[in-house]
Amino acid sequence: MKEIAERVIFPLDFQELDEALRWVERLKDYVGIFKIGLELFVKYGPSTVERVKSVGAERIFLDLKFHDIPNTIVGAVRSAVALGVDFVTVHTLSGRTALERAVRASSGRTKILGVTILTSLDKADLLELGFNGELLTETEELVSRLAFIARTSGCDGVVVSAKEVRRVKNSFPQLIAVVPGIRLDEGVKDDQLRTSSPFEAILNGADYLVIGRPIREAEDPEKVCREIHSAIEKALKERGLLQTELAYQNKFSTET
Ligand code: C5P
Repeated sequence: MKEIAERVIFPLDFQELDEALRWVERLKDYVGIFKIGLELFVKYGPSTVERVKSVGAERIFLDLKFHDIPNTIVGAVRSAVALGVDFVTVHTLSGRTALERAVRASSGRTKILGVTILTSLDKADLLELGFNGELLTETEELVSRLAFIARTSGCDGVVVSAKEVRRVKNSFPQLIAVVPGIRLDEGVKDDQLRTSSPFEAILNGADYLVIGRPIREAEDPEKVCREIHSAIEKALKERGLLQTELAYQNKFSTET
């Protein structure tokens, strides 16, 4: 079950650190990576990382979505590396030079994820923002283009929605695909617009799923985690990708 739980990223989107720590203790067997974002970081600062680790979080994703000039991003990435986090995010719209320099500054110690287009934006938002050129009429085109820049800049992965992940993974299988905007119930309407179920996201090629509110706001969060694990397992099986099965198949093929 571990390889399945490892694919779940739980965002610690809480106002109070104590509450976040209680959730880490509660979910650490169900979640592979805990994500520290702006909400906790702005209030409690860099020591949040150590505190979250001290209650049992093994892997940390520092999601501050750096979007700045290359020099500033280099400094921010160096600071993140010094904190010992596993993943850090940089907006691909910061441009190629910023991404390339972020990758160099990480020296392979922290994985750099390029944020493409936020899952809270839909086509109307993108048109308003000016992404309406001939080449970029489809969101998928725009995301693919940003993923290409991330890949050729040396980024380890990208943050994309489940709607675009298949195309991105087909073009760049080496990129780690982190997919937020996961909803268990199609009918939920909140700020996430390009959403999908855990099953669909993994089936389309996601490596990791960011799942916050569907777990946090559930009556029984552990039960929801188990349901998510089953959906992930089913999708991985459909992709023929369960490591235990692959290991078994490899063993079998070397023995025969
Ligand atoms: O599942 P839920 O919508 O609650 O997850 C919210 C989390 O996903 C937030 O921490 C937010 O920063 C993150 N997120 C992201 N990239 C997006 C959209 C949301 O990392 N494109």
